[in-house]
Amino acid sequence: MQENEYGYFDDANREFVITTPYTPTPWINYLGNDGFYALMSNTAGGYCFYRDPKFRRLTRYRYNNIPADSGGRYFYFNVDGETWAAGGRPVDTKLDKYECRHGMGYSKFNVEKNGIESTLTSFVPLKTTGEVHRLQITNNNDVAKTVDSFSFIEWCLWNAEDDGANFQRNLSTGEVEVEKNTIFHKTEFRERRNHYAFYSCNRDIDGFDTDRQDFIGTYNSFANPKVVADAQSTNKIAHGWSPIASHHNKLELAPGETVSLIYVLGYVEVEPEDKWESKAVINKKPTWAFQEQFDTDEKFENELAKLEAYWTGLLENIVVDTPSDSLNRSLNIWNQYQNMTTFNLSRSASFYESGIGRGMGFRDSNQDTIGFTHMVPGEVRQRILDLSAIQMSDGSAYHQYQPLTKKGNANVGGNFNDDPMWLVLSTANYIKETGDTSILDQELAFEDTPDVKNIHFDHLTASFNHVINNLGPHGLPLIGRADWNDCLNLNCFSTEPNESYQTTQRGDSKVAESVMIAGQFVLYGNEYARICDLRGLTDEAARARAEVAKMVATVDQHGWDGEWFIRAYDSRGEKIGSNENEEGKIFIESQGFCLMAGIGYDDGRAIQALDSVNSMLLAEHGIVLNNPPFSEYNKFIGEITSYPQGYKENAGIFTHNNPWIVVAETMAGRGDQAFDYFSRFTPLFRPQDMAKHKTEPYCYSQMIAGKDAAIPGEAKNSWLTGAAAWSFYTATQYILGIMPDYSGLLIEPCIPTDWTTYNVKRNFRGASYDITINNPNGVSKGVVSIEVDGNAIEGNIIDFATFSGTHKVVVTMG
Ligand code: BGC
Ligand code: NOJ
Repeated sequence: MQENEYGYFDDANREFVITTPYTPTPWINYLGNDGFYALMSNTAGGYCFYRDPKFRRLTRYRYNNIPADSGGRYFYFNVDGETWAAGGRPVDTKLDKYECRHGMGYSKFNVEKNGIESTLTSFVPLKTTGEVHRLQITNNNDVAKTVDSFSFIEWCLWNAEDDGANFQRNLSTGEVEVEKNTIFHKTEFRERRNHYAFYSCNRDIDGFDTDRQDFIGTYNSFANPKVVADAQSTNKIAHGWSPIASHHNKLELAPGETVSLIYVLGYVEVEPEDKWESKAVINKKPTWAFQEQFDTDEKFENELAKLEAYWTGLLENIVVDTPSDSLNRSLNIWNQYQNMTTFNLSRSASFYESGIGRGMGFRDSNQDTIGFTHMVPGEVRQRILDLSAIQMSDGSAYHQYQPLTKKGNANVGGNFNDDPMWLVLSTANYIKETGDTSILDQELAFEDTPDVKNIHFDHLTASFNHVINNLGPHGLPLIGRADWNDCLNLNCFSTEPNESYQTTQRGDSKVAESVMIAGQFVLYGNEYARICDLRGLTDEAARARAEVAKMVATVDQHGWDGEWFIRAYDSRGEKIGSNENEEGKIFIESQGFCLMAGIGYDDGRAIQALDSVNSMLLAEHGIVLNNPPFSEYNKFIGEITSYPQGYKENAGIFTHNNPWIVVAETMAGRGDQAFDYFSRFTPLFRPQDMAKHKTEPYCYSQMIAGKDAAIPGEAKNSWLTGAAAWSFYTATQYILGIMPDYSGLLIEPCIPTDWTTYNVKRNFRGASYDITINNPNGVSKGVVSIEVDGNAIEGNIIDFATFSGTHKVVVTMG
């Protein structure tokens, strides 16, 4: 089963098993589902927060540190003077055994040294605002052993940004209390906070520490804390400096004996009038009730089983069985898991997103919904409405909102002109999946006109109109600050190193145009027209279709370069992404969007554009964003030209947009090509390549260094990327061809020619379909017949109104 030098997939348990603490980058997992989240590396590094990773951070983490991955929930052992840790690090003692299993919402660490074995199981129980850890320690020796076991976490002083900056204040504010086996973190509780945190142990302890300097020693490190070496806690209360929480258990273990310790790291909110038990003593009642839920092995295991059942429920809505094990594993487990992570966290907190910068992105969060609407439709409805609420009456939108307040983020503002039309995508996709058209009638004001009664449908109209009200000299959509590509800044002209490319805008910006937004408008404008049809708005649908047709004509006239689609016109009206350019002749985004919009399939241009992508943009690990890369900074083009060649938006393989080309290939009917592309940028297809890839093999990274990079194939920025949702959507709907539509399930596969059969189980609007697709003639595309429960149906839509319950569907291609 060893698939590479770092680990392997265990599909039966839906786990990735890591076999060394020394992965090329920390390989992480996400714990938590309902507002409390924890990042957990393969050596128990990481941190946790309640809802907002900036304002409610419980534990401290040191990003980009040396050694890598500094800070976490550490459990140290001292046995006969030898020290190590239950997560495999931060002590670098050579272990006799190490294994980390990242599963669905939990991580498990099994290590052994000198016959002392430990299993640490960590998770965030459902509907719980805290992490729970069980540490089982077994003496496998045939003599009794004394195990000195120490827990350790370091508190963050709540505001993660301030915590890493404002030391003149912070080194004086820290406050803790200790009662029974629980250490309380109450910094700033005396002032405006009505929340505190605690760290408890379910067994009597033999000592504690609350001050980092006491526990670690000023010039020691996480690898060799003084208290662990001494096998002796200091039992001191921290006053300012850096408060921590550590429990000490001195365990006498007979041969073969196992003990189990359960730790809860919890977040508690109290009513303002209920904060104190007595002067300066915090109200601990909620804590005792919290801990009690998890204080026995049985309770712990029940909660873990509930979490497992929760994930089974989420994942059984779509289950595929294809000739490709890598595809099955990706779609059935890891891709859906990553989609839920983007649902929970958008782009806020990973090991590369520090959790202090970004809110929920309008563009990103709308797109992300296409990856999880089938799992959490109710939550998606709310998410779409939250996004819709930060839209202005002219159709523009705040680019981000803050998760705690749901208010638009004024520091970033708006004017990213691709934003509006993503709302049509998320809404259309939601209705197709659920059939719930009532979302359109939901009353919802625009941000700038809170007193005017509007409904969500009006927001889609505003999105549509925003594009046609903001056209440039060629009749193409104005780009504003940027379109999907944040780094194509055509109205920024920055020569000042201290300013942000994303928020700086100069000039009247009425010239620079985006062909990508043109394609996006055609694609989602048509979708808007279909939504108008659903509502019987014949005139509005006709108006929309006329505008879309006009845009197609404009793209034909001003957006086609001869062999591919142009990318944009800059502020001087010059082409970007044209054969006339020396660098950046061709870009992926305008090919993706014009082709997904259906432009050029009737006259050979679509195939020409796809062939240009193949000859100019294809690399070993996917399709690069542009070619040739920019070699010099150009203030008229912006941040894209700031990156070294082959990285990020400057000709990196920006995985988010690779699926767009895969969709286009399926529309062109080239199933072998589509699948080949898909397998290049999906890391699950090449787990043996991880020394080069570096980031986790079980999730998409935002970027893989492109063919022009100094070191092609290195991935960066794992986990929080639109690649997750787009890949799942593309594979299930366009390759496997099971496509929810307004009236039912549309079946339109485009597969590799050597697939003879595959199966998809799909829950859809209250019915379950067990769909077998047979491909006796080795084609890529073309459905010749569909039988539902043995009866042939007309066409290739399984009408949802006809079916409930469970059904067998047989599709024959040819
Ligand atoms: C990155 C983009 C990102 C943007 C906004 C840029 O530096 O290259 O990928 O979307 O910042 O934060
Ligand atoms: C990452 C951002 O989150 C996303 O919104 C953007 O589309 C891509 N970068 C490309 O610049």
